[in-house]
Amino acid sequence: MKIRNHNISAIDIGTAKTCALIAEIDRENKIPIIKGYGVVATKGIKKGTVVNIEEVSETISKASNIAEEMAGTSISNCYVSISGDHIRSINTQGMIAISRDTRTGLGEAREIEQDDIDRVIEHTRAVPLPVDRQILHVMPQEFIVDEQSGIRNPINLLGRRLEVKVHLTTYSTTVASNLLRCFKNADLSIDGFVLQAFASSYGVLTANEKEYGAILIDIGSGTIDVIVLRNSGIYHTGVVNFGAHLVTSDIAYMLRIPLESAEIIKKSHGYAFAGMADKEAFFKIESSGNRPAREIPIARLAQYIEPRMEEFLREAFMEAKKADIPLSNIPLLVLTGGGSL
Ligand SMILES: Nc1ncnc2c1ncn2[C@@H]1O[C@H](COP(=O)(O)OP(=O)(O)OP(=O)(O)O)[C@@H](O)[C@H]1O
Ligand SMILES: [Mg+2]
Repeated sequence: MKIRNHNISAIDIGTAKTCALIAEIDRENKIPIIKGYGVVATKGIKKGTVVNIEEVSETISKASNIAEEMAGTSISNCYVSISGDHIRSINTQGMIAISRDTRTGLGEAREIEQDDIDRVIEHTRAVPLPVDRQILHVMPQEFIVDEQSGIRNPINLLGRRLEVKVHLTTYSTTVASNLLRCFKNADLSIDGFVLQAFASSYGVLTANEKEYGAILIDIGSGTIDVIVLRNSGIYHTGVVNFGAHLVTSDIAYMLRIPLESAEIIKKSHGYAFAGMADKEAFFKIESSGNRPAREIPIARLAQYIEPRMEEFLREAFMEAKKADIPLSNIPLLVLTGGGSL
């Protein structure tokens, strides 16, 4: 019997741009094939959260319409990425006893089944939460069967006691309700929320990189998302409450030019390390009002950018250091997001 393929959609509302994606999941090979995407400038978001419902609803409609047109299909529901300083994360653990099985003659131990794994993970959700918080993800780091730690998949192992260490993230229900309203206005229902840093790690890191360990820093326009992975588990996720838009506003302030011009200059002539900029090179700012045209050294522009980039990385590292594992054990640092370009 031929198993039918089905579509899956996702929307990332960034502070600067919103992306909608429609993919077809090949049921036999389970491989997603991208059918359409739409990218538009975001309106109505600040630092990852909704500040204007109407503008965000319109942004969602625009991005999804473009993706639908390209895919030749319409969508009614989608997964949505979520970020912002309302996200909290903790590492916690759960434990269950594996019930005795006398039939096998193996004493009290018995084979661990999927049901046990689900149950022990469910136990970790029993953390006290304020009324305005909900659990976003519970991501297993390792299982411990009796005294044996470091187990990634305990299925079929014999044991009496099953423990799991997890990374648990929560989000503000108020922030999520505002997002829900925007999607409702755009005639879309939400299949589920996905933490932006978690989504970035899926998009950017290979399975091997997640296994050996990586710090992934996603420098967006309004937020910097940080995720620390090791042994394919997540040890920390965090959000720094500012991003690359600050570089643009610094340039606008220092050169007394509008933000739109600063954004163009940053992308065309900006260097994160002042030492890399050509000392002899200049760029031109056209005359405006009674201010004459100016020639600015590219090296001076880099001097405005460098301290901000240093601050971004310092803050991102402070966030990453909150992981329960020493960062010296993590061999890889990966930068992503528009602000890393
Ligand atoms: N070529 C480039 N050089 C320098 N900066 C760039 C370049 N391209 C994009 N950026 C900057 O990257 C930022 C946008 O990044 P990105 O698209 O990852 O953000 P976002 O996902 O919309 O925002 P967030 O994740 O914070 O909500 C902007 O500040 C933009 O100026
Ligand atoms: Mg982003």
